[in-house]
Amino acid sequence: MELTPFLNKELPESLYSQLYHWIKKEIEEGRLLPGMKMPSIRQLTTHLKVSRNTVEAAYQQLQSEGYLESVPKSGIWVAEIEKPLLHPLEVEHPIMLECKPSSEVLVDFEYGNVDLDKFPLKQWKKCLSDAVDQQNNWLFQYSENQGEFELRWEISNYLLQSRGVRSAPEQILITAGTQASMALICHLLALQEKTVAMEEPGYSGVRSVLEDQGCYIDPVPLEKDGLSVEHIQTSKAKAVYLTPSHQFPFGMVLSISKRMRLLKWAYQTGGYIIEDDYDGEFRYRGHPIPSLKSLDEQERVIYLGTFSKSFLPSARLSYIVFPPSLMVQYSRKFAAYNQSVSPIIQRAMALFMQTGEFERHIRRMRKTYQRKHQALLRSIEQYMGTHVKIVGEKSGLHILLKLKGITAFELIENGLQKGVKVYSPSRFWLNPNPEGNSYIMLGFGGLSIEEIEKGVRLLASCLP
Ligand SMILES: Cc1ncc(COP(=O)(O)O)c(C=O)c1O
Repeated sequence: MELTPFLNKELPESLYSQLYHWIKKEIEEGRLLPGMKMPSIRQLTTHLKVSRNTVEAAYQQLQSEGYLESVPKSGIWVAEIEKPLLHPLEVEHPIMLECKPSSEVLVDFEYGNVDLDKFPLKQWKKCLSDAVDQQNNWLFQYSENQGEFELRWEISNYLLQSRGVRSAPEQILITAGTQASMALICHLLALQEKTVAMEEPGYSGVRSVLEDQGCYIDPVPLEKDGLSVEHIQTSKAKAVYLTPSHQFPFGMVLSISKRMRLLKWAYQTGGYIIEDDYDGEFRYRGHPIPSLKSLDEQERVIYLGTFSKSFLPSARLSYIVFPPSLMVQYSRKFAAYNQSVSPIIQRAMALFMQTGEFERHIRRMRKTYQRKHQALLRSIEQYMGTHVKIVGEKSGLHILLKLKGITAFELIENGLQKGVKVYSPSRFWLNPNPEGNSYIMLGFGGLSIEEIEKGVRLLASCLP
């Protein structure tokens, strides 16, 4: 197949970005169909008379967003994408040009998985069953609008001890995930058609919500010690969403001086700071850093927590800690909204926390993840040596590798042929940025130490 987009060097938009947008549109509008084979990078480079980097970066971005798929020893294919994105006629009559061979993945460094070997399944099942067995009327009722009081009470104690956050259960709202939390905050703060600042790169899950809510996103550049506060001071932002304890995906910690300056910005402008503390439990080196919320003296920080990393992503349990004044507004505005997390799950989690199981689980997991993390760093140093630089290595369940002498696109391709799957962080940039092609992201939470070592060895064998 030949592609002939019109790429214009005179435009301010880079050739890579023009090519990326053109192919994306062709797929969305059904002119390039799932199962079609794309020209190879070499063919397209020659055909379009552009640099290899241009084509590679566009393919890479489309792959990380799920528009294209790379199959080892076969090539690059248009992927199956959400049907509503496709032209309806084309969806009904897809033309399958060739069947795609599937490849065997031996080690998958997917981000987002947690350790299941050490998960206290027996205790969790008992809490679930005890929650249902409790002889109370609540089983036949809806949950309280803000969520079960018992769970909010436990979260409030937990946050004080582990994150230094002072909060009454009345300030806590249980939600079914961080995206649900963000959508609700957008409504509460009336952020539609307002500017919201967020880290660039940053968590794409939240960025999608902000886009869908009609917010204007102001991407804030990152520095060694977290996002640029100067940028925010000159921005029109009404709110800033950030991951201060473990920047996603780069992993740096927002310095204390920046925390203070950011709070000052919020006090002076009346802006809100939305602090996403998604994996604050897992810090392996250095001192724990106080959360922004614990430093807030004027009710400008909205704190987001989740059980997805510290417990199970499938529980769909997250929460918001609102400043008291916002909680009052919430109660007025959302009085008619039912709580969307099952009270059974909430009660079971409350029991899991009351009986000390959660604390034990966190302590066990911190050690487990620390061992995995050490094994990952050790293997990278041993097998990949100077070809890569480890980025963001002090906490959390993922790291980035800065590549030398090979692009992410090539390493992902080569890795797949050897049975190891690694990912590009490109999708975390709002503005397509070729820098994304010089990093790969490795999630390690769900892998065993043996798998980690094997995966790194395989990956190392793909280096030039
Ligand atoms: C930055 C960030 N925040 C929050 C979450 C968790 O989201 P949820 O609570 O919807 O599972 C993740 C998960 O990957 C994340 O990376």
